[in-house]
Amino acid sequence: MTKNYNVAVVGATGMVGQKMIDVLLERQFPISGLKLLASARSADKIIKVGSNNYKVEEVSPQSFEGIDFAFFSAGGDLSKELAPEAAKRGAVVVDNSSAFRMDKKVPLVIPEVNPEAVYSHKGIIANPNCSTIQMVVALNPLHDAATLKRVVAATYQAVSGAGKEAVEELQEQCRAYLDGKPVKTERIPHKGASRTYQIAFNLIPQIDVFVDDGYCKEEIKMIQETRKIMSLPELPITATTVRVPVVNGHSIALNIELEKALSADEARALLEKTPGVLIADKPGQLEYPTPLASDGNDAVFIGRIRPDFSITHGLNLWVVSDNIRKGAATNSIQIAELLL
Ligand SMILES: NC(=O)c1ccc[n+]([C@@H]2O[C@H](COP(=O)([O-])OP(=O)(O)OC[C@H]3O[C@@H](n4cnc5c(N)ncnc54)[C@H](OP(=O)(O)O)[C@@H]3O)[C@@H](O)[C@H]2O)c1
Repeated sequence: MTKNYNVAVVGATGMVGQKMIDVLLERQFPISGLKLLASARSADKIIKVGSNNYKVEEVSPQSFEGIDFAFFSAGGDLSKELAPEAAKRGAVVVDNSSAFRMDKKVPLVIPEVNPEAVYSHKGIIANPNCSTIQMVVALNPLHDAATLKRVVAATYQAVSGAGKEAVEELQEQCRAYLDGKPVKTERIPHKGASRTYQIAFNLIPQIDVFVDDGYCKEEIKMIQETRKIMSLPELPITATTVRVPVVNGHSIALNIELEKALSADEARALLEKTPGVLIADKPGQLEYPTPLASDGNDAVFIGRIRPDFSITHGLNLWVVSDNIRKGAATNSIQIAELLL
């Protein structure tokens, strides 16, 4: 008989948490009890899950008594405070924030890439950054075949990556702009920023706060997390991360240099066989991945695979995925499934 588990979703009212609930049901995760947790703001709110209604509870350390799996997506501060409390009470935490990703004791896992890392967990497992996940799913088979020498990524990231209020802001800004009304800006580049920008009909070359050397934190996350997941601590890799006025689905223009020759056709054939990847690459038929087409899908879509003639053994690729699914909810649940 299969065992069923008590599951908690922390941040259950958010963009990622809501998708987490959908994906748990879709994948028929073996649930015996489900707890939906959020802040006091959402306490007592009713959420329909399948045919049952669940009352949202304000999260506290005691929320995790008897919980087997706790999926956290309520920001880094809350994860730092409560993930250890959940783990202490025997739950396996899969954390979507960046709080523990670079902690040496915490595995950072993409099931298609480094599933074995999950088994070393000590109660907390980190889900990588959304852009990192889709990029590394694409990079890993190419590295196995021809060894990465250098990676250059430029992202085109959807507003859903900044949470549900940012999506509402994009929609309100579009309406106001088209109606010739004043456009309110609060959430982009991030909530509480000293300067905010219109995202509607615009794009913003900043995601998360600025850190050292002119990089923003999202760029540093992509660099450091890729090295950790692929066990390539010295990998030369750089990134420019850009927010674009797309509701959902991140895109990455990826330029890679390899140690060995790998033609575009060979790369396409390798990626075609890669679990979790779907190829959309028929330039003759104007077929390539777009964020709209990726929305609601769990795959990493790859197209525009072509040689980079400016270097020896170079390739260009276009990598698109639903950041709320494979970039967050689906990857987290796949991680937990490795432990069932
Ligand atoms: N969006 C993405 O593409 C993506 C991808 C990967 C990881 N993540 C990470 O996932 C987390 C959530 O992102 P999101 O896009 O879902 O944000 P969101 O739509 O703004 O939702 C935030 C959720 O966290 C809850 N929350 C916030 N502060 C809380 C607190 N102090 N105590 C308890 N619950 C609290 C909110 O509950 P209330 O309803 O009560 O406010 C809500 O359920 C973030 O850490 C983000 O970095 C997001």
